[in-house]
This record gives sequence, structure tokens and C-alpha cells, in this order.
Amino acid sequence: MKFGYFDDANREYVITTPRTPLPWINYLGSNSFFSLISNTCGGYTFYKDAKLLRLTRYRYNDCPVDMNGKYFYIKDGDTVWNPGWQPVKTELDEYECRHGIGYSRFHGAKNNVTADVTTFVPTDDNCEVSRITLKNNGSSAKTLQLFSYIEWCLWNADDDMKNYQRNLSTGEVEIVDSTIFHKTEYRERRNHYAISSVNTKTDGFDTSRDAFVGAYWKSTANPEAVENGQLTGSVASGWCPIAAHQINLTLAPGEEKSYIFVLGYIENPLEEKWESHGVINKKRAWDMLSKYKTDDQFFAAFNELKAYWDELLSKYIVKSGNDRVNRMVNIWNQYQCMVTFNMSRSASYFETGIGRGMGFRDSCQDLLGFVHLIPDRARERIIDIASTQFEDGSAYHQYQPLTKKGNADIGSGFNDDPLWLIAGTSAYIRETGDTSILEEMVPYDNDMSKATTLMEHLKRSLDYIINHKGPHKLPLIGRADWNDCLNLNCFSEVPGESFQTFGPSEGPVAESVFIGGMFVKYGEEYAQLAELLGDNAEAARARKEVEIMTEAVEKDGWDGKWFVRAYDAYSHKVGSDECDEGKIFIEPQGFCVMAGIGKDNGKAIVALDSVKEKLDSEYGIMILQPAYTEYHLELGEISSYPPGYKENAGIFCHNNPWVSIAETVMGRGDRAFEIYRKTCPAYTEEFSEIHYTEPYVYCQMVGGRDAKFHGQGKNSWLTGTAAWTFVNISQYILGIYPTHKGLSVDPCVPSDFGDFEIVRKFREGTYNIKVKTNHSQKGVKKLTVDGKVCDGNIIPYEKGKKIYNIEVEM
Ligand code: GLC
Ligand code: GLC
Repeated sequence: MKFGYFDDANREYVITTPRTPLPWINYLGSNSFFSLISNTCGGYTFYKDAKLLRLTRYRYNDCPVDMNGKYFYIKDGDTVWNPGWQPVKTELDEYECRHGIGYSRFHGAKNNVTADVTTFVPTDDNCEVSRITLKNNGSSAKTLQLFSYIEWCLWNADDDMKNYQRNLSTGEVEIVDSTIFHKTEYRERRNHYAISSVNTKTDGFDTSRDAFVGAYWKSTANPEAVENGQLTGSVASGWCPIAAHQINLTLAPGEEKSYIFVLGYIENPLEEKWESHGVINKKRAWDMLSKYKTDDQFFAAFNELKAYWDELLSKYIVKSGNDRVNRMVNIWNQYQCMVTFNMSRSASYFETGIGRGMGFRDSCQDLLGFVHLIPDRARERIIDIASTQFEDGSAYHQYQPLTKKGNADIGSGFNDDPLWLIAGTSAYIRETGDTSILEEMVPYDNDMSKATTLMEHLKRSLDYIINHKGPHKLPLIGRADWNDCLNLNCFSEVPGESFQTFGPSEGPVAESVFIGGMFVKYGEEYAQLAELLGDNAEAARARKEVEIMTEAVEKDGWDGKWFVRAYDAYSHKVGSDECDEGKIFIEPQGFCVMAGIGKDNGKAIVALDSVKEKLDSEYGIMILQPAYTEYHLELGEISSYPPGYKENAGIFCHNNPWVSIAETVMGRGDRAFEIYRKTCPAYTEEFSEIHYTEPYVYCQMVGGRDAKFHGQGKNSWLTGTAAWTFVNISQYILGIYPTHKGLSVDPCVPSDFGDFEIVRKFREGTYNIKVKTNHSQKGVKKLTVDGKVCDGNIIPYEKGKKIYNIEVEM
């Protein structure tokens, strides 16, 4: 069952009922100012950091869910309704929410009145702009009152929820004409405030939540001031400051009126904080508001946003006979990659925005998905991430985006982390050809006095793995590898202890075959970087180490029919046929085969066939089987989840593409695509009532076969799945892979996929690629560039060349 449909021409998902299985959200903002917005107008706004600079309040773990947002109320006689249905939930005559790329639109209708709201964050401004149009479709005049409502957060979203003894006394506002200024804590150490304004004279306001809502047993679902048809003019002093505006209007039959609302963030230099004693300096606020006074200004800013996205989404466009692939590749998957770049894992409807900062491995992997979109910001991100590395090559597992400093409570010891830096840097250089980044001086632990070149950082990443091997010459796992929950050195017996940070970070025995696979893949990519710098000796050294690792993986990392997952602290196998539970894991199968291990001796195919036989399900490949049914002290958090959820035999969407990519390495396009399809939102849309999460973006996890809710998604939006599926579909299935020498074209598609075309912008060139598949799954027979036959399948990069026309025969 669906709850809407894709409108590909407009790049929108159209939700046709407010009663979706979960709130289905969108993100507004591209640089510093961001909002989350649900299909019923729930959500919140922040500047740069969702925890420390939160503008509006959201209620966590609330019932009903998704409480608080930016609401419009329309009072028409005795009926009060919202264009997005919430919070009053009056049944609407018409409802539609269109989530677009960087904006959302809402359409509601009740008793012959329609309300249309468009909300977005301009590309280069710190505000959210909403335009609402009310129209009278009836045959007699309508007298209406329109109210707007937002609730301010007292900046630190974490403290805001906990520290009532202070916070209920600090709230302060100023009101000038149609603008409400939220200035809590501005008198002391803050030099920023927020505004809520509308481009017309208003007929009332409230800035105190109690005055707006009424007595405490009332709520935003039935606010007293709205029911009375008149806001009270309250001036907040402590308690809970809000911004509510009132506009009275009469519409003749057929008449419509529009208003533009702005929610903005303003920072003043310290010396310009005040206008007069206790009165904030509003100059920058007036400047901002002057940009959104008229419809023309509104549409100009809106079109700029559209143009920004047109440009970004022009870098990889596929035209195939498969609409679902087209819409995911051309629109939603790339959009999600940008959102994960902007948010990392901080703010979604599953990540509260008050928790973790940027993840080292997460951010490196996110790079893989957006590096072609905004290479400059990828470059900056790589340097930020590398700056949190330690001198021995290990790294802080997380860092704070505002300070860019490593997060000491978690520390280091996640032994896959260093290799992801090589992955991200290699992707950046293959995309851009910019080897100068390798020469950039980058600090360790943010200490510039210890800086070395980025290339030296990568070398230390590689050497960290080489210098930390266990009894089977496989990499030590440390606190965990990619699988955060495989905590082989933790042994936690006390509730509430962190499974990751409890216990030593450097167990001398527990090893990860997965990191072995990673080492083989990224060791080769590292060797190529060394070659680019002319250091052939270093390249040879790395390749030698790769060979040694390959041998170790093939020897002690092979279980007979699949790759072992790990060795625990007692040197017992994890993910082996000899285990009672958790006999086979997905991660090493995907990564080892991707790295080419076992490709020529049959192991790779056997491993992939085992995945299909043992781990596959209708909704995707499970992370392991059989699920752990009891807590294993020596395995850690993985066995803490009930069977079928999360790392304990859930379908962890992130690593499904690894297996799909591995299948392309082996040339099996039908199977690669089958795996792609099972977790692909444009396909899961069909059964949204089971899948639950947004049908336009990936979620982190889907309930596995052992779960009560098999097929149900959780943790949508902020997941490495976005980047990896984009890498899979764009570089391996459709097969356009950036190499140091130029774009390589080597598709691996299902035999019935048909011919397709791709426009790919790569460095200064635009590549128009036409592929004739001839029902083949893999293998390029002929490739011509501008009519000339080319040897192999890499289109040689020519500096400065603008247009390449490529024809490919498979
Ligand atoms: C989460 C984490 C990621 C980890 C994965 C598997 O998605 O963000 O870092 O690799 O879980 O545990
Ligand atoms: C990852 C996992 C999650 C685990 C967490 C620990 O995000 O997905 O299951 O609880 O890491 O930090």
C-alpha cells in the first residue's frame, strides 16, 4: 500500500494522507541553517549545530509523536484547521504534502477555503521562509483569522529539556510591529537572537505559550487564544516563549491573499550587540527581512534554490527504461547523500540532534556519495576528519562539528576508522584529480605543531593496521570495527555501561576479518596514491602488505563456504559454521569479494552463494544468521538486541550494497540488481504499510526474518546506506567509475535492463555515454570516444576537454 506517489518531473514525493505510518520528513537548508519538516508540519530548526544552537523546540518521545512544529491555524467561523492537519487534526476536505528537494509544500482545504504553504531555506541566508496563500473557492465572502505558531527553544536543546529550574525563568523577547525577537540569554554570553516575522501588519500576537494555549490542560491542539479568535498580546517573561502572529482577513469569492513568514537567526558582533540599554540591535534583522517582503523576492529566492539543485543534480543523470532507477539515481539518492553530508548522524527523527557528533568512519563513507556533487566541501571535510587522527594513525571515533575537536568520552580504538580515511581521500582524488590535497599540512589531534602532510596521515592509517595484528596475522578489532556492536574486548555485565567504551580499547587477541578485507581494498587504493606522487617504493611496500593480508584472510579468514567474521578474545571464531548462533555474517563476504579476495580461486563465488542461501530474505540481506538468542558476554552489544533487529540479524541496509557490488565484481548483474532492488525506496514504496519509513530515502535498518516486524524500516535518512547505494548503482551497476586516469565504463546490469544513457560531469568535462547492453550482464566489447575506438574501458581524461561522446557495446 502506498501513501502517495512520486512526481518525477517536479522532483517531489507527494504524500496524499496525513496518516502515514510514521512522520515522513524532509530537510530544508544547504549550508548553515537547517530545518526538519514532517508531512504534517512537525519538526524543528537549528543553526549549524542541532544541539547547541536550536531555534525551535521539539518534544522528544512524545505521544502522540511528532509534536511541535511550525503551525498555521485557520479559524473559519467555529472551525479551526491546519493546512498540514496537525496539531488540531480537523478532517480536511483536501490534503497534500509535497516534499521537494530542499523545500516542502502543503495543500489543505476546508469548507471552500484552500491554504497552500511553501517552505524553504534560501541557499545563502540564515532563515526559513514560508509563504501561505489562502483562497476562497466558495460563492460568498469568507472572514477568516490566520494564526502562526512556533515555540522557541532556549538554544541548547539538551539543557532545554532538563534544566527547568533555570530555564523557566530566563525567557525574554522583544516585539516590534510584526516581528517577534527571541533574545533569551542575549543579555549575557550570547550574541545571537532569533526572529519570527510576517510581511504584513498583524492583528495580534502572543509570545507566551501559556497565554496562547490557555490553562495547562489545553495544548496546541486546541489553543484557547485561537478558539477565542484573538491573540492576547502576551509578552513572555520566563516560562515558555513562543511566536504567534494573527492576521484577520476577508476574502471575496474567488479571492486569494498571500503572506510571507520568516524565521531567522541573527548574529551581532560583540560591539554591536545593543541598540540601547537592554534593547537588542535589530539592524541585521531588518536587513534580512527586507529580502523577503514581496512575492517577487520570495520566488526569486525559491528559484535560486531550484537552480542550485538543478546544477548539483546535473552531474550524474541516467536515462534508462527503469523509472525507479532513474528517479533514485537522478533525484532522491543524491539528495539523501547531500543531507547525510550536511547532518552526518546528528539530526533526524531517529537521531535526536542532541546526541553524537560527526563520526570518523561515517563521514568518510558519506564522502563517497557526495564527492562528485561538491568536491570543494569534500576536500574541507577530509582535512577536518584527518585533523582528529592521532600520531599513531588511530583516530577519535567522533568529533564535534562546531569545534571540530575529537570527542574524548568515546576516544579511539575502532580499528576500521583509519582505513576509511584512505577510502574517502582516494574517492576525492579520483573524482577531482587534485593530488595537492596529499601535500596539505594536517595536524594530529588538532595540534598544528604536530602537523604532517595528508599523505603521511594515510601512511599512518595503513601502518596502524599493519602494526596491530593478532595471532592469525589478521587486524586487531579494538573496540569494534564497522559493526559498532561487535565488541569483542568489552565484557560488560553492568546495565548502562557503554558497550564500546567499557573495557580496553586494545585487546591483543580479537581480530577482524572484515578489516582484513578493507585493508586489501584500500591498501591498493593507497598504493595508487603513492604512485601518483611518484613514490613507487611506497606503492610496492603497500602492495606487499596487501598480499600478506590476502594470504592471512584466505588462510584463517576462510571457513569453508564463507569468510569468517572475526576471532574473539579467546581466539574462537565468530561467524563460522562451528558457532551455534551467528554462523555467517554479511560484512566480510561483501568486503572481501569487493577487494577481489577469492575472485580467481572460487572462494568469492562460494561466499556470495552462501550469502544468498543463508542470509537473503524478501526485504534484503540480513546481517547475520542465525540470530543470537541470548546475551554473549564475549560478543557485546550485538547480542543485546532482540533477534532480527539492528546488528543482531536485522537487515542493515548499509552493507547490502557491499554484496551487490561484490556481485558486480563477479559479473552477476541479475543478482546484483536483485539485491539493489530489495532495499530500494522506489521499490519498497509499494508496501509502505509494512516498510513504514519514507519511500523516497533509505533507512538504516529493516527488521530481519527473526523480528516480529519483518520488513519494517527504522532510522531513516542519516545512514551510510545513502552513499553506498549511490556508489553501487552509479559506479558498479551502471558502471561509471572514476579512476585516476579517467572515467571507467564497465556496467553490470540485469540481462533484461535494456540500453541506457548517462550524462556524467567529471572534472571539466561532460560525458554523454550511450550503452547498448545486448542482453549482456557484464563485459564491454567495444567503447568509442568521439567515434574513435578506445582500448579497454577507461575513457582517457584530457585536461580542459569539455565534451566527450561515448558509445559502449556490451
Ligand atoms: C551505525 C553507525 C555506523 C556503524 C553502523 C553499524 O549506522 O553510524 O558507524 O558502522 O551503525 O554498527
Ligand atoms: C551504531 C549501531 C547501534 C549501536 C551504536 C552504539 O549506531 O547501529 O546499534 O547502539 O552504534 O554506539
